[in-house]
Parts: sequence; C-alpha cells; structure tokens
Amino acid sequence: MPLEVIPDKREMAIRAEEFRRDGRRIAFVPTMGFLHAGHVSLLEEGRRRGDVLVLSIFVNPIQFGPNEDLARYPRDLPGDLEKARRAGVDVAFVPEPAQMYTEGFQTSVEVREIARGLCGDKRPGHFVGVATVVTKLFHIIKPHVALFGEKDYQQLAVIRRMVLDLDFDIEVLGMPIVREPDELAMSSRNAYLSGEERQKALVLSRTLNLAEEMVREGERDAARVLSAARALINSVGGVRIDYVDLRDAVTLAEVARIERPTLLAVAAFVGKTRLIDNRVLTPRS
Ligand code: PAJ
Repeated sequence: MPLEVIPDKREMAIRAEEFRRDGRRIAFVPTMGFLHAGHVSLLEEGRRRGDVLVLSIFVNPIQFGPNEDLARYPRDLPGDLEKARRAGVDVAFVPEPAQMYTEGFQTSVEVREIARGLCGDKRPGHFVGVATVVTKLFHIIKPHVALFGEKDYQQLAVIRRMVLDLDFDIEVLGMPIVREPDELAMSSRNAYLSGEERQKALVLSRTLNLAEEMVREGERDAARVLSAARALINSVGGVRIDYVDLRDAVTLAEVARIERPTLLAVAAFVGKTRLIDNRVLTPRS
C-alpha cells in the first residue's frame, strides 16, 4: 500500500472507519515530526502490531508554554514522509493547527496526580495539552494499539492513566529509548545543539550510568544518588539542571529509598536547549 498523506481530519476519520469496517487492526504512532531513529523504532514495532500503520505529524501548539520553542520547533515534512514510506507507514495524518483547534475551542483533558512533579511542574499546562491532543487523535484515528516512547516517561504514564480512566479501548505500548552511538538520547530538539553543546549534553546519559552503577554497588539512599547525579551535571559548564528526581517507576510517587524499580529522570538546559533523559534503576534484592 503506497503512503497516503491526509491533512483533513474528517477524511482521516472516514479512512479509519473504513479500516475498522474491513476488520483491520490499526496501529498508531503520534509524533510532532522531524523524525529520527527513536520515532522509526515506534513505527517499526507498530508495523508488526497492526495491519494498518498510521503516523501523525502535528506540532501541537497547546502543549507548548509561552516561553517555549513552538515557533522554532524543527520541521521537515518531505524528509519525514520519506522516512515514513521506508518504515512502511500506510497513512500519514498531517493536520494544520486551525483544523485541530477550530474557533471557540475550549475543552481539555486533565490527568492530575501523575502529571505533577517532573516535567509537569516545570512546564505548566504541558500535559493537559498532550492529553487533550492525544484524545483528539485517538478519536480521529480510532487505533487498536498506540505506541509511545519511554524517552517521555511521564507522558507515557499520563497516557496510560488517561486510557484507563476514560475507558479508551486502546492498547498502549511503551518502547525503549533509542540513543545515538555515544548514548545521547535521540530527540528532535538535538537539532538545536551546537557541536560543543552536543558534547556537553552527554553528561545526561553519563549521569544515568553513574546512578545505575551506584545502585548496582548497593546504594539505596535516594538523596545520595541525587546529590551525586546533580554534582556530575553541575560539573559541566553551560549545562543547567531543570530537575533531577527519583520516583517510583509505576506511580511516579517520590521515594526516599531505592528498593523497587525507580525512575531517575533528568531535565537540563544545554545552552538554551532543554533536554530530558531517564532510566529505571532496578535494585537487586
Ligand atoms: P515527539 O516528541 O515527536 O515524540 C513522538 C514519540 O516518539 C513519543 O512517544 C516519544 O516518546 C517518542 N520518542 C522520542 N524520542 C525517542 C527516543 N529517543 N527513543 C524512543 N522513543 C522516542 O511526544 C510527542 O512528540 C508529543 O508530545 C505527542 C505525543 C505527539 C503529542 O503531541
């Protein structure tokens, strides 16, 4: 099946209805485009999980704060469509903001506790914007299975919670973080980094490695792991911590001790670019 590019949400909804009527299983990967190998890993798994693979590319304005990078978010539709073709995408849904948010739009989806802390505190309104757009995309595309990356760990937790709470009949699949050979987590925002910043950004994954090593060596005290992590990041000039936090990997509740799978989540500004990374630390019993 050649790649179909659909900008119109009504047309997309009709195609989705046809797929369902034909008994085909719809796998869906929502993105904001500027696709990289992380996105492609989601598409490849989606290809295996569904009979029809739908990708959405939409830089969702309502999940960006007033001082964030909406206006300069990187875009490359022709390049994205080529990658989509190669990954076996059947339909690329590429709506314009004016279509997703028609005049008078005033409804939102709020997932509460799990959207607090971490990026939720640092980016007010962000997860309401994400939950709202993902709800709309789910209604338009009607997927059986939707794939999200663990790169955005809290986002994945928010979507899982929302799907449970609002009875979406959709299987949510979380996929591992894809990294560059030097371990920098892939991100569309890496395009903002200068060569020097790109090197400095490696401190994020090094911090995850350090914490993992501490836990492997028997450290269980969250405060000690956090202070070592912060010290390492602070040792690199031009990198400013936004947050470094340890949370229960399932509930995202704060933890004092690392006795169960525990998320280490890091957000830092490298120059002007905000990057995030994370790892689940699993203590040996
Ligand atoms: P975007 O940042 O484009 O990411 C789209 C999907 O790709 C997300 O599920 C994200 O977690 C995943 N992803 C990004 N980098 C990854 C990596 N290095 N390894 C594995 N997966 C990775 O996340 C969004 O868009 C938006 O918030 C969206 C869900 C589309 C709603 O607007």
